[in-house]
Amino acid sequence: MPAFDDRYGVPTVAANAAAVAHLDAAIDEFLRFGVKGGDHLGAALTADADMVLAHFLKAYFMRLGNDPALFLIGRDAMYRGQHLMLQGGGGSRERHHAAAARAWYSGNWSEAVHHWQAAVTENPRDILALWVSQLVLFFQGEDKVMCADTARVQPHWKEWEPGADYVQAMHAFALEETNDFARAEALGRKAVERNPLGVWGVHAVAHVLEANSRLKEGVAWLKGLEPHWSPCGNFAYHMWWHRALYHVELEEYPTVLDLYDRGVRPVPSMDYMDISNAAALLWRLKSRGVDVGRRFDELSEKCVIKKDDHLLPFSQAHFALTLASTGRREALASMVESCRIVAQGTSSVARATKAAVLPVAEAVAKQVAGDFAGAVATLMPVRAAMVRIGGSHAQRDVFAQWLIDCAFRAGDFKTARALLSERTAAHPGSPSAWKRLAEAARALGDSKAAGEAEAKARQLLAA
Ligand SMILES: [Fe+2]
Repeated sequence: MPAFDDRYGVPTVAANAAAVAHLDAAIDEFLRFGVKGGDHLGAALTADADMVLAHFLKAYFMRLGNDPALFLIGRDAMYRGQHLMLQGGGGSRERHHAAAARAWYSGNWSEAVHHWQAAVTENPRDILALWVSQLVLFFQGEDKVMCADTARVQPHWKEWEPGADYVQAMHAFALEETNDFARAEALGRKAVERNPLGVWGVHAVAHVLEANSRLKEGVAWLKGLEPHWSPCGNFAYHMWWHRALYHVELEEYPTVLDLYDRGVRPVPSMDYMDISNAAALLWRLKSRGVDVGRRFDELSEKCVIKKDDHLLPFSQAHFALTLASTGRREALASMVESCRIVAQGTSSVARATKAAVLPVAEAVAKQVAGDFAGAVATLMPVRAAMVRIGGSHAQRDVFAQWLIDCAFRAGDFKTARALLSERTAAHPGSPSAWKRLAEAARALGDSKAAGEAEAKARQLLAA
C-alpha cells in the first residue's frame, strides 16, 4: 500500500491522497472538539475503506465516548484495523497505533500510552498520537507525564506554523495542571492568539484564572472568546461549566442557574462528561443552599442507568455523588457492590476504582445514611489517591469541597478548619474558602480568626 504525508508530514498508509486529506480534517476537528469529526472520518473511509489509521481513529472516537454501546462499535473498528494490519495494510505509524488501540481496548491504559509515546518519538509531529495520549493520561491524573510529553515535541514545531498552536495549547494545559501557572498562561494566550478556534488553549487559560481565583478576569476571558468556543460539540458545555465556576465564587447564583440551563445542561444527554459537569455544578449550588429545583433528579435518573458502566473512573465518581445528592440509596448500594467487583481486577479502571472510586462511593453512601463522621473517615485517608480518578484539579475539587461539607455536618470543626486552612493557602483568592474557614473558626470559639477570615472574604468579594 502506498503512503502519503499527512498535513504535518507524517507518512500515512492509504489507497489515495484524498483519504489522508479527509483524515487530516477529522483529526483537526478532534483537536478542537469540532462536531464534524465523524463526517470527515466517514469521507476518509469512503475514499479508502481499508485505511488502517481511519479505523483506529474511529476506535478512538468511540472509546472516548465512554458509553457501553459506543465501546462495542469502537472495538469492532479496532479489530478491523488489526485485521488490516495483519494483511499488510499499515506501515510504521500504524503499527504504533495498532498496539496502542489494542492495549486501550484491553483495559491497559498505561501500555496504550507507551505505544503512543513511541509513535511520537518516531514521528514527533504525529499529532493524533500526542493528542489521544494526552487525553488518556488526563483521565489517569498523570499531569507530570502530560507535561513532559508535550514539552518533548515543542522543538519540532515552528512557533507560528499551522498546528503549532495545538501543541502549545496541550503544553499550556499540562503546565497549568502542574501548577506552573505563569508559563501556562503565557503559552495558552499565545496559542489562542494564533488560533482562537483552538478551544484547548482557551480552556488552559480559563483553568489558570480559576486556579488563581482571578474570577472577573475569567468571566471576561470566556465571554470575549465565546463566539469561538460555543460552536464546539459538547466540550462547549464544559466551557460553560468553567464560566459558571467563576460566578459560583462570586456568589452570583441566579447567573449560575441561567448558565446551567442555557450552557452547561441545555439538553438532558446521557454523555458521561455532560453529566459530570452538571453534577459538579449542582452540588456546589446545593451545598451553598441554592434551590436547584428538579435539576439533580434529571441527572440522577441517568446515573441509575449508568451506575455500573465502569468505563471511566472520573465519571463513575460523579455518578456516585449524583446518586447521593438525590438520596438514591438502593442505586448507590448497588454501585458500591459493582465497584467492589471491578476493584478486584487488574485493568487501569480496576486499579483506579480500588484506589479512589470505591472509597468515594462508600463515603457518599455513609453520608446519605447520615453517618457524616464515617464518610469523613472513609475519604480522608485516600485524599492523595483522588488524583487517580483523573480529570483536572478544578474538576476533582468538588470532592475536596464535599469532604469539608461532611466534616461540618459531622460537627468535626477541627477537621473542617484544618482542611480549610489548607484550602485558603492553596487558593488565597477564594471568597468561599475564607467564608467557610470563618465558620469553622467561629464554631471552635476562635472569634478573632473568624473575624479576620470574614473580613478577607468581604474584601475579595468587593474587589
Ligand atoms: Fe476544564
